[in-house]
Amino acid sequence: MFDLSGKTALVTGSGRGIGLVLARGLARAGARVALNDLDGDRIAPAREELRREGHETGAAAFDVTDSAAVREGLDRLEREFAPLDILINNAGIHRRAPLAEMPVEDWRLVIDTNLTSAFLVGQRAARGMIARGGGKIINICSLNCELPRPGIGNYSAAKGGLVLLTRSMTVEWARHNIQVNGIAPGYILTEMTRPLSEDPERNAWIVGRTPAGRWGRPEDLIGAAVFLASEASAFVNGQMIFVDGGMRVAL
Ligand SMILES: NC(=O)c1ccc[n+]([C@@H]2O[C@H](COP(=O)([O-])OP(=O)(O)OC[C@H]3O[C@@H](n4cnc5c(N)ncnc54)[C@H](O)[C@@H]3O)[C@@H](O)[C@H]2O)c1
Repeated sequence: MFDLSGKTALVTGSGRGIGLVLARGLARAGARVALNDLDGDRIAPAREELRREGHETGAAAFDVTDSAAVREGLDRLEREFAPLDILINNAGIHRRAPLAEMPVEDWRLVIDTNLTSAFLVGQRAARGMIARGGGKIINICSLNCELPRPGIGNYSAAKGGLVLLTRSMTVEWARHNIQVNGIAPGYILTEMTRPLSEDPERNAWIVGRTPAGRWGRPEDLIGAAVFLASEASAFVNGQMIFVDGGMRVAL
């Protein structure tokens, strides 16, 4: 039920962090996986790491915010690697500033990278999935899609939008046998969150505020991703799975 043999997946922003770990998780479950990041130099070490573990991956370097690059990147990938069965929209960034002082460039960059990208890559991938009779799309959201923190208003708005984009894709594409769902991670230790984990005060707040009493690891997200990428979730549509050590349900 959770076997992904014979399936082809693309994970955006998978040169490092959560994306790379999810790519490895899908590969271990049997999928052929293509890595994506801004350029080939970011993908190469990740690809080599997976190759050493016995997983031959594809590579598609493009900026997920650039509509022409997305179209060309997916055209080439589906022609030269394989048509996509599974897409994980994972690429994302932070630009922190209080809303009263946030430059509009930082607002736009974060909305483009965390939200518009899922529309662009999802739209192009779904066209092929519709023609072939089905597929899986997994949008990586965040605990901040429901619970904002000061200084990340752009990010929270983007991730909140991504929840409704997940549901909008569901109401349009579920009839084509495409299951669109999301994963909302809590605080996961990666390069993105290193500044928080290295700040003793923030680190203590995060660990103390998480019922599980620890940071999440990227590996903690693999189970949800494989579930949502597999036949096991054939009638699961428009859902958001919070993988957050219980933070969302605790006061
Ligand atoms: N780390 C956490 O605690 C956490 C929590 C909730 C949600 N998330 C989400 O998980 C996802 C991955 O986060 P991470 O912690 O692994 O971050 P990360 O910074 O370690 O990795 C993100 C990757 O995306 C790539 N990327 C950025 N912009 C891109 C673009 N325009 N085109 C293609 N690739 C691009 C980066 O080069 C990088 O390799 C993000 O969407 C993030 O918002 C992370």
